[in-house]
Amino acid sequence: MNNIDSYTHLRGESIYVDDIPLQAETLFAAVYDSPVAHGKIISIDVSEAEKIKGVVRVITAKDIPGENQIGGIVPDEELLASTHVHFCGMPIVLVVAETEEIARTAVKKIKAEIERLPVITDPREAKEKGELIIPPRTFKLDNTGDAWKDCDYIFEGRTETNGQEHLYIETQGAYALPQENGSIKIYSSTQGPTAAQRTAARVLNIPMHQIEVDTTRLGGGFGGKEDQATTWAVMCALATHLTKRPVKYCLHRMEDMRMTGKRHPYSSDFKIGLNKELKILAYEVSFYQNAGAAADLSPAVMERTLFHCTNSYFIPNVKATAYSCRTNLPPNTAFRGFGGPQSMFVIEAAIAKVAEALNLPATVIQEKNLIQAGDEFPYGQKADSEAPACWHKTVELYDPEKLRQEINEFNSNNKHYKKGLAMMPICFGISFTKTPMNQARALVHVYTDGSIGISTGAVEMGQGVNTKIAQVAAGIFSVDLKRIKINSTNTWRIANTSPSAASATADLNGKATQMACMEILKRMKQVIADEFNVSATAVEIKEETIFINNEKTDWDWKKAVMATYLRRVSLSEHAHYSPPGIHFDATIEKGHPFAYHTYGTAIVIATVDCLRGTYEFDAVKVVHDFGKSMNEIIDRGQCEGGIVQGIGWMTMEEIVYDKDGKLRSNALSTYKVPDIYSVPKEISIHALETTKDNLAILRSKAVGEPPLMYGIGAYFALRNAIKAFNPAAEIAFDAPMTAEKVLMALYGK
Ligand code: MTE
Ligand code: HPA
Ligand code: MOS
Repeated sequence: MNNIDSYTHLRGESIYVDDIPLQAETLFAAVYDSPVAHGKIISIDVSEAEKIKGVVRVITAKDIPGENQIGGIVPDEELLASTHVHFCGMPIVLVVAETEEIARTAVKKIKAEIERLPVITDPREAKEKGELIIPPRTFKLDNTGDAWKDCDYIFEGRTETNGQEHLYIETQGAYALPQENGSIKIYSSTQGPTAAQRTAARVLNIPMHQIEVDTTRLGGGFGGKEDQATTWAVMCALATHLTKRPVKYCLHRMEDMRMTGKRHPYSSDFKIGLNKELKILAYEVSFYQNAGAAADLSPAVMERTLFHCTNSYFIPNVKATAYSCRTNLPPNTAFRGFGGPQSMFVIEAAIAKVAEALNLPATVIQEKNLIQAGDEFPYGQKADSEAPACWHKTVELYDPEKLRQEINEFNSNNKHYKKGLAMMPICFGISFTKTPMNQARALVHVYTDGSIGISTGAVEMGQGVNTKIAQVAAGIFSVDLKRIKINSTNTWRIANTSPSAASATADLNGKATQMACMEILKRMKQVIADEFNVSATAVEIKEETIFINNEKTDWDWKKAVMATYLRRVSLSEHAHYSPPGIHFDATIEKGHPFAYHTYGTAIVIATVDCLRGTYEFDAVKVVHDFGKSMNEIIDRGQCEGGIVQGIGWMTMEEIVYDKDGKLRSNALSTYKVPDIYSVPKEISIHALETTKDNLAILRSKAVGEPPLMYGIGAYFALRNAIKAFNPAAEIAFDAPMTAEKVLMALYGK
């Protein structure tokens, strides 16, 4: 079934924040942001800016009526810098003017005198200096200390993974409108409307019920709008509060790249031990997370790094420690995978190191150590594992042994082109790692003409959640999908929402929708039963027709709806869902945090041009655990998009900050993302359909984030291709593997 948004998308009629027709009197905002990464503000001179015709108000920290604080987990981030700046791009002054051009011209006239302070960009240096966002955390399984003596092979190493720019097509933006009695309505391109509402209330010092946040859809979020969309929503609300006029701010691409955080870079150390049979017996790992200048979501991201430190392997002795390190970069934030990809890279690098040293394919070690049903993750949850099933189906379907032979043949026949193959199993826990966030609500109205309006906390960002929710309702009522409208996400209709994130949006909001629809259906059936003088169990609605004891009646859906209304029975329901059975105790770092896990295995094949260092991906062949997909088109799209985004992170996307903390890769001319030419020539996705019960909506497992991690295989496929050209190459585990790095490795010692 097609995405319900495809019609307006293709016609260019879908509405994003920048498309909302403007109200009269609308003002435009722009931010003056810090030119230095760390310093003390000595003075700010806005006099030249204020003189410009059309500038309506210049706002600094002292104009904020409430708390100058936007930190969600840790209160450590000011909306507008008051005394110190902590990263290049930190907002200091907010200008509002009659036009966008005037606002941006005025910003250029602002002068700030800032006394420079030492800049830290490296997480290990931050840790040495005691600059930690929260105390370190350690996850343990059994005892690594005792296990080393049983190991026949022990290897140690270090890895680096870089950040990643979200590059949602729609940049950050918001549009705030004044309402009666000091209320404010904010249209925001946010994954977390409630976060924007809560923070606006805090900054303006007004109750949350005065702030209405409304989100129709996003032109992509990828985690970048889970927390950081709040900033711009609150900026606009603040300016509206102070001017009593509508205020809009949609960031230009370079503003967005400069001022917002990205995926967290990590530096990590590992130690891995195996016995002669290649069973991994022990694994120790330390993660140095580059959090940037404020906590943002870093503590939660760090937690997921620990959860996924063994990927889809069972390792009996594990010790994993993570440090969230404060540096002078923009606060890094959620990005598809949420810290999971970063730790999966490390265990894969550890396995690759062993394989290269023992001169055998990594796949031999990977396969031997796949987590089996009943095995324990380091955090205490027992696996209901599809890891072996996905792996073996991959082998059966795509025959990697044969592929490897073909590659060997190609490599011996070609001097300047070499191919490499890697397999990448994945395992991703589904649920917010913070248990209380796993809740959602839905409000369903059936109107007297038979049409249905649904509101939930889910935000549509291209992942197709609205289509899935409409499918849920259409299925329960057994009505045509055309009868259903999914409304914008709005904090006055649905309160206290968790952000649309953690791949759990369809599960949580879909289940709430399911509950609300079931309740309405139950009432309608009782009304029909009363009319026909039968019991409610005799009533069924099938494809908009009413059946009594399996016999067709002359009643249809619309008639049943009207009958329910005339009997004064409610056709509306607000339902609340929270998944059962999940818990986690952070004092002992044990529990059952995930409703379930999503698994899969990919084969990635790369071809390297050994004269130029450039490369292509011939194929990504996947077996993915969908449970039972409720929408194959959408789910395949999520897989394909995730794979390409993952490959981008591992290969060509290179974020560069200089030692002064200035972003050098600050535009699309200096930051390369995969385009149509760098997409793998083949992406095959086979659905592993399982019949097991799970907590997913209609047993359709969450698919938003997990496929990104197949992209990690691209790094190792490239590594294997390089080794085919230069077996002596010593290649640091340092992603992304850009063409420059490939070239160096091809001709390095
Ligand atoms: N797909 C599209 N097209 N656009 C996005 O912004 N975000 C990803 C993923 N897929 C994203 C996407 C991220 S980071 C998450 S957490 C999930 O979608 C969120 O949606 P879900 O919970 O409905 O899977
Ligand atoms: N995933 C994504 N976003 C989150 C999470 C998570 O586990 N926890 C808090 N925000
Ligand atoms: Mo996704 S990183 O959980 O928004």
